[in-house]
Amino acid sequence: MIPPKPTPRPDKVSLRQYVKLFRQDLLSAQPQRLYRAWMAEFRTPFFRSYMINQPSLIQTVLKERPDDFPKSQRVSEGLKPLLGESVFLTNGETWKRQRRIIDPAFEGGRLRDTFPAMWAAAESAVARLERNVGQDIEIEEEASHAAADVIFRTLFSIPIEHEIAGRVFSEFRTYQRSAPIVNLGAFLPLPRWFPRFFHKDTKSTAASIRALITGLTEERMAAIEAGTAPDDLATKIMTTVDPETGKPFDTNEMVDQVAIFFLAGHETSASALAWALYLCALFPEWQEKIAQEAQGLEADFAAISRLKISRDVFREALRLYPPVPMMVRETTCPEDFRKREIREGSQIVISPWHLHRQERLWDNPDAFDPTRWQTENGKQCAREAYVPFSAGARVCTGAGFAMVEGVLMLSMILKHFKLTPVGDPPVPIAHLTVRSRDGINLRIERRI
Ligand code: HEM
Repeated sequence: MIPPKPTPRPDKVSLRQYVKLFRQDLLSAQPQRLYRAWMAEFRTPFFRSYMINQPSLIQTVLKERPDDFPKSQRVSEGLKPLLGESVFLTNGETWKRQRRIIDPAFEGGRLRDTFPAMWAAAESAVARLERNVGQDIEIEEEASHAAADVIFRTLFSIPIEHEIAGRVFSEFRTYQRSAPIVNLGAFLPLPRWFPRFFHKDTKSTAASIRALITGLTEERMAAIEAGTAPDDLATKIMTTVDPETGKPFDTNEMVDQVAIFFLAGHETSASALAWALYLCALFPEWQEKIAQEAQGLEADFAAISRLKISRDVFREALRLYPPVPMMVRETTCPEDFRKREIREGSQIVISPWHLHRQERLWDNPDAFDPTRWQTENGKQCAREAYVPFSAGARVCTGAGFAMVEGVLMLSMILKHFKLTPVGDPPVPIAHLTVRSRDGINLRIERRI
């Protein structure tokens, strides 16, 4: 049995049809041949963009010469109202300085300090699910709730039940629904005169999220000054000075960073957890294995590294449904890729979605097979053709964090509950992250 994959479009369609398909869904707007291609060129009257799906090219862009391939400004455009000058959008010196301040907060040792807050969030998730036993639940919703709780607890030491946390969470959901344009702008760079389909609410939602986050950040700044701040990620980031300039973030800059931590940290983790739980529901033998492995689970950071089955399943979920399906960069000088001349200012698209299912690289690419990570092919592909967190200098700052969070949540939930799919299979589509078009419905029963 193959887990859900969007039906690709026919190989040839007109630009008009393409734009229409694209507005419906990024993933089914692509033809099957992209899963075999090393590179594909998209020509329109206005621009060129190139999807690269060959490990050595991706290596060049992400790892060898990242400074020559900054983030595409066209993508940033869609996210600026919410994220301002956040590390996710900036380039060059500004970005380097921001990473020097943020990275220490996510180092291995700090992850250990963050663990008790994650554990508390996982216990809360179990308590919430407990109330739904015997019923059908929409698991993306539950996963979003759990992931938002993790972020609030680890960053600001407050649970999702906190009034401001709850309001930020619900405003983010409105934002997510009103911002599908981000994908369109990303992959299909539009001419400047083309109407932007910004939903009228997108900007005002962004403003109210930022107002709430500003409140939390100012409050924290005051607590740091008073010497009463808890030792969490926000305090760590706000008290770290850039080793080169000797300066920390000011409040405004911190608000931009907090906004991206919420967005990048909860949308993506929620998407990954929801798909991982769905795959476990679809393949009950794996669900049983994880439940067994989780029997001895306790609130101990070191115990997470012993959850090998859970980790293999979570990695497989990230392969089949990479939460960030595509990343876009821009060329800053002419390039020669596969003997094709690429002009300066072209868009370079790296698609984890396609790379993770590249037919010339992966054995059985569309199948769910967590054992693949122990095979030669799986190990080689893990090194060369697996980038759920991107790679190189701009790799996700939260990658280590997300792997602990995801594996812990998966194991905790399956230790307590048994899940079965209900209704039609979910249809993956790309919003801000890869989601299911109509949610993911599962029946939940108590295991212990
Ligand atoms: C399963 C969960 C996650 C996935 C799959 C994921 C994936 C990614 C990817 C692919 C990028 C690069 C995007 C690009 O280059 O266009 C990225 C960047 C980023 N992620 Fe994550 N992420 C996850 C969780 C998190 C968490 C939990 C945090 C923080 C708490 C986080 C913070 C960030 C930040 C700050 C960046 C920007 C890094 C930069 O541009 O220098 N992510 N993430």
